[in-house]
Amino acid sequence: MNIVTSPDSVLPLALRAMERTPNPRLRELIASLTRHLHTFVQETRLTEEEFEQALEFIVAIGQATGDKKNEVVLAADILGVSTLVALQNNQDPEGESPSALLGPFWRANAPMCDRGDTIARSGTPGTPLTVSGTVRDPQGRPLADAVVDVWQASPVGLYENQDPAQEDMNLRGRFRTDVEGRFHFRTVRPAGYPVPTDGPCGVLPRAQQRHPNRPAHLHFMVSKPGHKVLVSQVFADDDENLESDPTFGVTRRLIGRFELQPDGRSATLAYDFQLEPGEMKFPRPPIP
Ligand SMILES: [Fe+2]
Repeated sequence: MNIVTSPDSVLPLALRAMERTPNPRLRELIASLTRHLHTFVQETRLTEEEFEQALEFIVAIGQATGDKKNEVVLAADILGVSTLVALQNNQDPEGESPSALLGPFWRANAPMCDRGDTIARSGTPGTPLTVSGTVRDPQGRPLADAVVDVWQASPVGLYENQDPAQEDMNLRGRFRTDVEGRFHFRTVRPAGYPVPTDGPCGVLPRAQQRHPNRPAHLHFMVSKPGHKVLVSQVFADDDENLESDPTFGVTRRLIGRFELQPDGRSATLAYDFQLEPGEMKFPRPPIP
């Protein structure tokens, strides 16, 4: 009889029950997940109380997710899973991946802007920053009409959706590259910011004695039909938290040079992107 006889007999029975899943990828994913979960429970000798806490945590991150934030994405980020998925699926033949985790703050449909426009719509005070770059294909040819979608935190470290002092869509915008694949825009230098710690995910960094502060960065999503959508982040090279990003997003390649200008009060950042051929598929926005 195929019934449970001991703790060790549960996993084979569970796997057998899933064998008929017609979709082969779903069968593979759930079977592997089940194996890893069972191994985890056995290896750690998970107690009933701990199991209850784990389930409560999953319920809580779902319940805390809404229009303003996404604690489920945040949980994946602070466990390093989002970075792993981003890097694993965007290998660069030359070495380091050009991509980074999407994070919980991307909003679709940021305003389309003209090249050179500022995305500091609220007159946000801060160090003026000019960002420029070129989008190319893997052969180094410039890609005209690529869309460069940018979003960033303010100089006090808040995204507009977290901050009533900022206008809707402040520090967000989309730019189209010119015939030579170039884009440029104006903004203010972003500050590093703590990942939200007021929700259920805040428990972890506190318990693990990890600081929650991400190094200052700009988010980019670069797209053009016929090419894979590139989701990336560019980090400020002078940030003290480059080596302790709570979401593990920093790679050497993603560190940009924020150059102070001779006037001593404004800065520039030059950063180029490369798009691989493929399907233009956008991620689902974590917040509306
Ligand atoms: Fe961010």
